[in-house]
Amino acid sequence: MIAGAGPIRLRLSLRDGSGAPEWPDGFTVGVFAESDGDAVERLLTDARADGLAGCPTTVAGWYDRVSVDPKWDPDLVTLARHRPTGRIVGVVHGWRGAFVKDLAVEVKARRLGLGAVLLHETARHFRARSACFMDLKVRAENMPARRFYERLGFVAVPD
Ligand SMILES: CC(C)(COP(=O)(O)OP(=O)(O)OC[C@H]1O[C@@H](n2cnc3c(N)ncnc32)[C@H](O)[C@@H]1OP(=O)(O)O)[C@@H](O)C(=O)NCCC(=O)NCCS
Repeated sequence: MIAGAGPIRLRLSLRDGSGAPEWPDGFTVGVFAESDGDAVERLLTDARADGLAGCPTTVAGWYDRVSVDPKWDPDLVTLARHRPTGRIVGVVHGWRGAFVKDLAVEVKARRLGLGAVLLHETARHFRARSACFMDLKVRAENMPARRFYERLGFVAVPD
């Protein structure tokens, strides 16, 4: 593992497509629509409340900013919904070019496996686009997320 300040680039090989994780009981995959933008913004803001994943204020106006980016593709945003209520409890946002821009699961729904299934969905999308790997950046001090990515097979690569 690379230590030190600043973001660390992590990479997951997409060559091995086996072992799809199951959705945890009570949760289901959700397709993103523009009307979900505010809920996603709230989720990303809350997920940054402790500052580990970034500054909460940088998420303001999330949909308006991301949707005009050339790397934006709404098909690369996958939601986790609480099945009984339909509430959005998790989101993964990929950019074109096999990059995971954001991943967040609300505090109450963590450690159930949602982060892993969301990332698996994104990997599936990138594989379908013939990507051999997908990258993301994580803050060096975000040890919970670094451990989580390591368990899933991500390895540090030079940025
Ligand atoms: C990082 C994050 C997305 C992980 O989401 P999650 O839904 O908790 O992820 P999972 O449940 O798949 O895995 C998390 C941990 O729970 C464990 N876990 C998974 N299913 C479990 C279960 N049924 N029971 C107990 N533990 C479980 C995993 O082994 C994993 O352990 P680890 O963190 O020690 O590696 C979430 O913590 C988060 O939103 N963090 C804030 C935002 C952030 O840091 N995002 C990343 C920015 S780069």
